[in-house]
Amino acid sequence: TRARIVVDRDFTLGEVPRRIFGSFVEHMGRCVYTGVFEPGHPAADEDGFRTDVLELTREMGVSVVRYPGGNFVSGYRWEDGVGPVADRPRRLDGAWHTVESNAFGLHEFVAWAKKADVEVMEAINLGTRGVEAARELVEYANHPGGTALSDRRIANGAKDPFGIKLWCLGNEMDGPWQIGHKTADEYGRLAQEAAKAMRYVDSSLELVVCGSSGSLMPTFGAWEQTVLGHAYDEVDYVSMHAYYEESGTDHASFLASAVDMDHFIESVVATIDAVGAARKSRKKINISFDEWNVWYQGRDDADSPSQVGKSGWVEHPRLIEDVYTVTDAVVVGTFLNSLLRHGDRVTIANQAQLVNIIAPILTEPGGAAWRQSIFWPFARTSALAQGEILRLHVDSEVMDTPRYGDAALVDVSGTYDADAGTVALFLANRSVEEAADVEVDLRGLIAGQVLSAEVLTVPEGGDRHSVNAADDERVRLQPLGGVSLEGEGSVVRLRLPALSWSAVQLE
Ligand code: AHR
Repeated sequence: TRARIVVDRDFTLGEVPRRIFGSFVEHMGRCVYTGVFEPGHPAADEDGFRTDVLELTREMGVSVVRYPGGNFVSGYRWEDGVGPVADRPRRLDGAWHTVESNAFGLHEFVAWAKKADVEVMEAINLGTRGVEAARELVEYANHPGGTALSDRRIANGAKDPFGIKLWCLGNEMDGPWQIGHKTADEYGRLAQEAAKAMRYVDSSLELVVCGSSGSLMPTFGAWEQTVLGHAYDEVDYVSMHAYYEESGTDHASFLASAVDMDHFIESVVATIDAVGAARKSRKKINISFDEWNVWYQGRDDADSPSQVGKSGWVEHPRLIEDVYTVTDAVVVGTFLNSLLRHGDRVTIANQAQLVNIIAPILTEPGGAAWRQSIFWPFARTSALAQGEILRLHVDSEVMDTPRYGDAALVDVSGTYDADAGTVALFLANRSVEEAADVEVDLRGLIAGQVLSAEVLTVPEGGDRHSVNAADDERVRLQPLGGVSLEGEGSVVRLRLPALSWSAVQLE
């Protein structure tokens, strides 16, 4: 396979929006309990937070974390999660058929986020609740003091306001499975009024309105149009959600999933802008891609969605603890490429989720925490994607895929940091059989040296289905050898192994 990439320092899309390296913590399965929070664990700190998970979260370079759901939030009473823990009610969570102890709530999450060095992105319940609970939560969280709600926060131990800027107006409200599911008109009006009332309390908020829960929803497109018809002037972002999985023998389409992600993003941008144009509005609404990942929804194992509720009402059961392969990691790398390529409009994105639930980090209760294969593309892209996003010209051989037609065999994104004088390239080779020879033509730039070159591919003795385990992180980065500079640093040549994801940094 051959590919040629042209990098021109003057062709950029804008600053890398750091919030695209977001993640998601939902009260679901073992994400919160025995994931981020496990009092009594040998690695727990004074707040009961697992320091092993905190360290991995920081290592991953997560910038912002969405909380507390997800489907969970649509039946959640935020008041249940504040105040003395002994007084907090135990509740049934209908979304995941789970008993919620409420031992972890808003104060705990804000404290955890501070230790993890991430921004808080808080979702409100627009399923069973509405305008009043939303504005009260904003007052509780963000008002300095001197009112009943803000003084209650202070009495509960937080003298300083939480200062939460980023808020989701509900979750997947187009989905019939959602508690309090609404039509686009019902939701659009509610979101508009909730947004208005929340801003009356704190005018500095940034608000995300729910788009569709997937591009295959029957209402996709019409939903965005109707909702924005109501809420355009009140909101700053439209949400997108997408999950992909390999099914049957069609690994080619799975490897090309980012082609669909590109198309999905461009469709939502077009829909948003069409609504704006018809309103003669100059306001630009961006995208919060606040759930994305590989998720094997078709699985029928003990922890799969099809089993939810079958073992009765229990606390933090094992749910969707997908174990990720080399192939999944390569696909996740291409998702990050897709987000970066659209970083002028996708300015927030959250991988779903952070720990245990379809996550880059797995834990055992009382035991270890470890990195899944998909940890690496996220961690390295977050670390190396600095400065401006490059508008690359990519000319790659293609493969034919049953679902998406032709897909480039080599998928790329890149950034240029003018201050540091560095270029970072993120390259996936989607071929499961052939290595790819790549030529990078630098325009207006001369590479003096290769600062780093790393690759994630099939480990020795393994295959494309290889996975990590608590005591065996075999799917990890290795040095990518043979990166050469030619033409006095104006051309870079590299060879990407079959089925691989690489990060290369040049100076
Ligand atoms: O991330 C898992 C679930 O997927 C979320 O709760 C929901 O929003 C989505 O359908």
